[in-house]
Amino acid sequence: MPPHRLILDCDPGVDDAFAMMLAFAAPEKIEMLGVTCVAGNRPLDQTAYNARRLCALAGRPEIPVYAGCARPIMWAEGEPVDVHGKDGLGDVSLPEPKAPLRDGHAVQFIIDTVMREPEKTVTLCCIGPMTNLALAIVMEPRIVPRIRELVFMGGAAFRMAMYRVSEFNFYSDPHAAHIVLSAGIPQTMFGLDITYQAEVNPGIFQRLDALTGPAPKALADMLRTYASMDPRLHDVVATAYLIEPGLFDGVEAHVSVEYTSPTTRGLTVARWTPPQLAAGYQTNTRVITKTDPAAFFDLMLTYLARY
Ligand code: RIB
Ligand code: CA
Repeated sequence: MPPHRLILDCDPGVDDAFAMMLAFAAPEKIEMLGVTCVAGNRPLDQTAYNARRLCALAGRPEIPVYAGCARPIMWAEGEPVDVHGKDGLGDVSLPEPKAPLRDGHAVQFIIDTVMREPEKTVTLCCIGPMTNLALAIVMEPRIVPRIRELVFMGGAAFRMAMYRVSEFNFYSDPHAAHIVLSAGIPQTMFGLDITYQAEVNPGIFQRLDALTGPAPKALADMLRTYASMDPRLHDVVATAYLIEPGLFDGVEAHVSVEYTSPTTRGLTVARWTPPQLAAGYQTNTRVITKTDPAAFFDLMLTYLARY
């Protein structure tokens, strides 16, 4: 399997931080083409600033970081989430960015990169609300057949969401999720079905604390803030999959999202049973449902030990 040449679309966010740092730690598996930011866990100016700080923490100031959409396509932004701390990265001490935001909009960067690079060589990983990719698809539909694979953290196909009918990324911009899910890109979904299996425990903290270096220490400090409210590192499973896909298993399903009702906005609907598929639903998504949590955390800690 050739390495993934990746655009990481994110809303850092503590779990986004772990996902990004893990991706940077595996250059033989992931060539980072750029990081695009979206409003989500925090407003856009904060998520973009956080992405630049994380590039500095990883020693990768050369990675292009673009700001994208500051609000969802239709409905107002969701409630701000405090689980990531006031600054979105656990309010811990981090290095200042070493490089400015790149000029230009994240949506245009996605379009330009996918249209420039050879077909089927660019992978998208969305770990925040999908507004940027949705607008890229609307602006330039020709990117759809050119994308190698979309891997995303979002939705909840076979379980109810944490505290509402939908998971945060789908809830934040259900219209964007609908545009992306129905576009026809080969896509792999990491919803709450799998991320609830990535629950940190005291042993993980001990192993993280045993790593030396400023990056693992900063991540451990972020995690202490975050895990006190949500012990699941949702976004990390998506980048762990890019490094070691064999760790995960799932089912092919037709996945759609509710985007017309304010009451059930972002609700994921998965159809995968033979009668449902016989009724005419075409599968459009591989929904990941299984992993070995111990092996997942071993992978994450093994790569983070490289810092
Ligand atoms: O529901 C979890 C998702 O919402 C994660 O991407 C987290 O960072 C937040 O964006
Ligand atoms: Ca996120």
